[in-house]
Amino acid sequence: MTLPALVSALSILGLGTRGTAALPDEPAILRRACPDYLSYSQSPHPPYSGGPLNLPFQRPATECRTFNSSAVEQVIEDVTSRMVDKDLAQLFRNAFPNTLDTTIRWHTDGTTTATRKSKKQSEQWNGPQTFVVTGDINAEWLRDSTNQLANYQTLANQDQRLYSLIQGAINTQAEFVIQSPYCNAFQPPPPSNIPPEGHNQDDQVHPAYDPSVVFECKYELDSLANFLGLATDFYENTGSTDFLTSRWFTALDTLLAVLDAQSQPTFNTEGQFVTNQYTFQRSTTLGTETLSLAGVGNPLNSATGLIRSAFRPSDDATIMGFFIPANAQMAVQLNRTAAMLRAAGGHDGLATNLADRSTRLRSAIQDAGIVTHPKFGEVYAFEVDGYGSHIFMDDANVPSLLSLPVLGFVDKEDPVYKNTRKMILSKDGNPYYLTGSAFHGIGGPHIGLENAWPMSLLIQAQTSDSDAEITECLNLVKNSSLLGLVHESVDVNNIAEYTRPWFAWANSVFAQTVLKLAAERPAIVFGEGAEPYVP
Ligand SMILES: *[C@@H]1O[C@H](CO)[C@@H](O)[C@H](O)[C@H]1NC(C)=O
Ligand SMILES: *[C@@H]1O[C@H](CO)[C@@H](O)[C@H](O)[C@H]1NC(C)=O
Ligand SMILES: *[C@@H]1O[C@H](CO)[C@@H](O)[C@H](O)[C@H]1NC(C)=O
Repeated sequence: MTLPALVSALSILGLGTRGTAALPDEPAILRRACPDYLSYSQSPHPPYSGGPLNLPFQRPATECRTFNSSAVEQVIEDVTSRMVDKDLAQLFRNAFPNTLDTTIRWHTDGTTTATRKSKKQSEQWNGPQTFVVTGDINAEWLRDSTNQLANYQTLANQDQRLYSLIQGAINTQAEFVIQSPYCNAFQPPPPSNIPPEGHNQDDQVHPAYDPSVVFECKYELDSLANFLGLATDFYENTGSTDFLTSRWFTALDTLLAVLDAQSQPTFNTEGQFVTNQYTFQRSTTLGTETLSLAGVGNPLNSATGLIRSAFRPSDDATIMGFFIPANAQMAVQLNRTAAMLRAAGGHDGLATNLADRSTRLRSAIQDAGIVTHPKFGEVYAFEVDGYGSHIFMDDANVPSLLSLPVLGFVDKEDPVYKNTRKMILSKDGNPYYLTGSAFHGIGGPHIGLENAWPMSLLIQAQTSDSDAEITECLNLVKNSSLLGLVHESVDVNNIAEYTRPWFAWANSVFAQTVLKLAAERPAIVFGEGAEPYVP
């Protein structure tokens, strides 16, 4: 997730608008002793790495961490003890546990009275629940939380507490999706007794939402794909389907109704304009923060079979609503969900429905999402409108075109992907490929034309076959993470200028990249001749 530029600017100045208020039942002494992590993350702490960059140790004191996992501590020990580069090791030591250390705002394993409800509501907020904030904003984004936790999925079977944590996150996301399937970011769950954050946006949104539940209501197709992804990833890693509750199935039905509504064209078969079920308007001076045409967005021709997304994973408005990366992610996740439901048994009709949707969406992307670029040949467009118009660019936020193989949509050797990758990693193929004297990579409109995002370099490393390219990407990220944590974006001419000191998602992507390399190309992270490492 990313946040409105104002909040971003405030956090650069260390004036975060959302403090890390302590849990209501935390002892007062602990509350006083634990510093606000937003300010803590902005000054360096010992012990230092001892490498050329002398990176600081930025984990909070043990008693201030928001969740503990022995399996995670073991991976930190295993990986950092093998690494030759002390700075890279320090970055991993800080980044891998960052989500557990700082963002588990509330978790219950479901056995306490916290989630016990009256008979009528007994289904709601039942079982384990987990509320995961993004970092410097005290709200949960569906996309961010799935990606923040993706780090720990492979360990869920080794550590019962992690299992309960992720199961809780699935349950909590299901409640959010049932309540407001068009929204991207949510307030603390009522049983947590954590007060909701104010959000000073005077947004006009249909369908209406409850601001005590929803933090922001930008409809982003990838939020829903990430809801599915949290569960399919858990299933694929644990082999369990026990976590598929009736609430989860209700959330799935709710999600499918959104996909159907968002497959509707702007004009019906008689050529008459039909208002989309979702509209969004904000009073703002930023064009990317609202939708044109009175909140409807630019016209779309849905004969394509693609699904609309009003906003991108950067939380910026789409220009053309058929945003290809999220359609690709949804195609993958519908199919993975079908496989998961078949494994669970008893849902064959639903599984077939999902697999059919996946196949149709995939062919819609092949038909309408691939266009011929005058220089790079056949490429995936970033956005299309179904009338033949398309946008050539990429944005750092995942899902992106660069991440298509990471999402599981294409092989990285796919010829159209290879052309696309060349295009988006070049200055003349992607307007948001940003370069300067100190840093380069893909950025996006969200922070602006002088800021590239470390996340894009990490995805570049994950999709590369070249040791030299991977090493350069890792070094750029390491060199620009002087506070020992990965930032949201970095000024291409001055790495001391960055946004978001505390952005958990980027740190998880860094850790995933290191773990992928440790398994597949151990020489890069552990030195020549090293054995592969798999937790
Ligand atoms: C994590 O462990 C430390 C030390 O054992 C303890 O003080 C802290 O309360 C634990 N935190 C959580 C959230 O369990
Ligand atoms: C869906 O997954 C199955 C394996 O479960 C695979 O054989 C099939 O090709 C996938 N289909 C699509 C459209 O991705
Ligand atoms: C990273 O910084 C080191 C100096 O600390 C420099 O030698 C190296 O070239 C930099 N690498 C990249 C990719 O910027």
